[in-house]
Amino acid sequence: MNGAREKWTSKVGFVLAAAGSAVGLGNIWRFSYVTGTNGGAAFVVIYLIAIILIGYPMMVTEVAIGRKSERNPVGAFKALAPNTPWYIVGGLGVFSGFVILAFYSVVAGWSVAYIFKAIAGFAPGTDFADVFVGHITGTAVPIIWHAVFMVLTFAIIAAGVVKGIQRWVKILMPVLVVLLIVMVFRAITLPGAGEGVAFYLAPRFEEVTAGTFLAAIGQAFFTLSLGMGAMITYGSYLSNKENIADNGGWVVGLDTAIALIAGFAIFPAVFALGYDPAAGPGLVFITLPAVFAEMPAGSLFGFIFFVLLSIAALTSAISLLEVVVAWLVDEKGWARPKAAVAMGIAIFVIGLPTTLGFGVWGDVRIIGMEILDFYDFLASELALPIGGALTAIFAGHVWKARTVIDETNNPPGAIKIGNWYGVLIKYLIPIAVFVVLIATLIDFFG
Ligand code: PHE
Repeated sequence: MNGAREKWTSKVGFVLAAAGSAVGLGNIWRFSYVTGTNGGAAFVVIYLIAIILIGYPMMVTEVAIGRKSERNPVGAFKALAPNTPWYIVGGLGVFSGFVILAFYSVVAGWSVAYIFKAIAGFAPGTDFADVFVGHITGTAVPIIWHAVFMVLTFAIIAAGVVKGIQRWVKILMPVLVVLLIVMVFRAITLPGAGEGVAFYLAPRFEEVTAGTFLAAIGQAFFTLSLGMGAMITYGSYLSNKENIADNGGWVVGLDTAIALIAGFAIFPAVFALGYDPAAGPGLVFITLPAVFAEMPAGSLFGFIFFVLLSIAALTSAISLLEVVVAWLVDEKGWARPKAAVAMGIAIFVIGLPTTLGFGVWGDVRIIGMEILDFYDFLASELALPIGGALTAIFAGHVWKARTVIDETNNPPGAIKIGNWYGVLIKYLIPIAVFVVLIATLIDFFG
């Protein structure tokens, strides 16, 4: 029945699309502010451990589930475990897609708006914290950019997987990396940058709490697009001729490298220019314009940077929407364009409270958080880790670790998944996620 499922047309097609999904605001915006609010290097160390022990195994697992079943997340669990409730895990993923894209699009809208702020010029001596607050507390302007971004997202998804997604992700990722490296050089040569490098590289483990571990695990899932079926969905378009272990390794490696490089562009500048590393979600929108203001032709670089960041966000956003759309197309028989437009509009509406929460609804707090932070917490620190842990239990115990190992090593590649995988997927990942989750919730509400 699924014999004719559309497939990536080349090996790079999958790696680029999956890397396009992984590399996004999570690497630059979220990684830097979560690192900043969780004490710097100690967080980074735990995050890297989470990437290796949880991120990579989960990546190959999700791709394997997708490729084997050739379905969206809900259909994938149904196909691999018929007549069981496991498909609810896929449903949780579709829910996460809604919530994440709702606020993701708002933040991506900030990035698009900053393209125009760069055109107007980033002048030295500007208080970029003021500029940022001025922008997000507005009503119409952030909503319009949120709308523009959602329209771009659903237009691409309506066009289809290969024509829509693959074409877009091929060109721009390398340019983003080069530009980030240029910015690292500017940032680390600013007077006073050393303190920022120390913040980023010298771990202070005494600051680590259960919450640091949950933040690191949540960030690992978020940045690799795991725990909600995006990689299941993209894996479903991967042909049997490609090796999963190697391709997954590329995606995880690229994504991690870009986040680590972004940290070197951001933290030295934060300290050199006197900003607060714990400034929260505004960190890159405050710090990076300040770095550009200190560079020759800075506004031009700023323009290029925010164009690239917006595109990186777009290639991630399409993977979020694709999960929701693939579910409606496969399971409910909707036409792809109709599903893309209807869900795009619904998600736009669900996103509105997150932007209003900085302006006219500025007093609203949900469990002590601003609305956008609450959406992010709900999705990234609860739904993704829980979805991921359940997927791990499913893969390890129901579908069986052995089956996943065979699927990922077929055809053989440079990386060979061995029996260590079974230990991680069956025990370590679910136990680590649930222990950390429960410990954090006890800390938080206790
Ligand atoms: N990985 C993306 C980023 O880092 C966000 C994302 C999360 C995309 C979950 C798809 C699924 O920006």
